[in-house]
Amino acid sequence: MAYLNDNYLKLKAGYLFPEIGRRVKAFCDANPAAAQRLIRCGIGDVTEPLPLAVTAALHKAVDEMGARATFKGYGPEQGYDFLRAAIAKNDYRDHGIDVADDEIFVSDGSKCDCGNILDILGGKNKIAISDPVYPVYVDTNVMAGHTGEANEAGAYGKIVYLPCRPSNGFIPEPPKKHVDVIYLCSPNNPTGAAATREQLESWVKYALEHKSVILFDAAYEAYISEPGIPHSIYEIPGARECAIEFRSFSKNGGFTGTRCAFTVVPKSLNVQTKSGEVKPLHPLWNRRMTTKFNGVSYIIQRAAEALYSDDGKAQVRALIEHYMGNAKVLRAGARKAGLKVFGGVNAPYIWVRTPKGVTSWQIFDKILNEANVVITPGSGFGSKGEGFFRISAFNSRANAEEVARRLQELKW
Ligand code: MLT
Repeated sequence: MAYLNDNYLKLKAGYLFPEIGRRVKAFCDANPAAAQRLIRCGIGDVTEPLPLAVTAALHKAVDEMGARATFKGYGPEQGYDFLRAAIAKNDYRDHGIDVADDEIFVSDGSKCDCGNILDILGGKNKIAISDPVYPVYVDTNVMAGHTGEANEAGAYGKIVYLPCRPSNGFIPEPPKKHVDVIYLCSPNNPTGAAATREQLESWVKYALEHKSVILFDAAYEAYISEPGIPHSIYEIPGARECAIEFRSFSKNGGFTGTRCAFTVVPKSLNVQTKSGEVKPLHPLWNRRMTTKFNGVSYIIQRAAEALYSDDGKAQVRALIEHYMGNAKVLRAGARKAGLKVFGGVNAPYIWVRTPKGVTSWQIFDKILNEANVVITPGSGFGSKGEGFFRISAFNSRANAEEVARRLQELKW
């Protein structure tokens, strides 16, 4: 009989969002009337239609694919030059950040890239992960066999957890001990906290001293509203020698269903072999992509390129303003409901403390049953997320206002 990957058996529960979906479906099946008024503020999935610049580019690209003269088969695995150039120029070089076109690798999502990056990193690395944080970082390390078993609280052996609490503004400090790989997410999912320049400088300093690699997830970069907050890890001198950056078109361009993202692997980022030989990661990631990936479709890459046109930029801005308007409404509503509220200023997520003695899943059930609103329990993002819940601002304005109203009706 063939063997399975035992590491999968260490995973504590189903992946967070399908698990929430399962519970919500059970609730709706049992309560059809409540299901009619259900409002989903759980998964951070966009609700507004694609920008017009994107749909125009999609139509044009479809026509090109339908004509013999302009039809395209396999594209470059790393992404078409037109999109790599648009990204490197608009997101980096126009902001004084040194990133070359061929350091951009276009993909079908940051979730996949965050997991796939482990293909090119050794199994002996000591991994540091913020807690709470996007569950993909922990789960993919469990699957790859980089962890021990989980304890009662759901924390896995061998992972160095970096606690994110109100006392550190939910941004972790570098650990006292050595780690090889560090996951940072800023603006943060789920807490909404964004790292300051000083905080990122301290991480880059640590990584350079320890010869560690920072995996910097900047999927929510477009939501930064406060001046001075870095949008890229490469704004910090030295980061090109120690960091990989993940970015996505999901949350700025509304591409959660369309699928397009990219990862930056600087050519100056080196790691070592088991025997201590120093090697760059860039050719390894290139090798991985060319072997395991056939690239994002031409049509979708043209759509992503359109986000960088003047119209596209203005339409993305409007989308962000819409969702951040919701965040404002939800923050105010949760506050008026007597809850302690964080986030929602540089990210589309509101991070809320549960009333004393109430667990994250208890409040999930209460809000689902009594307000017919879906939120995400904080403990789903890590053990330090216990005692919190997340409200997603991805919704229509009318729904955000209704959620704010219903929260205030609840008796805690
Ligand atoms: C979330 O709700 O945390 C996000 O939707 C997750 C994701 O982008 O994969």
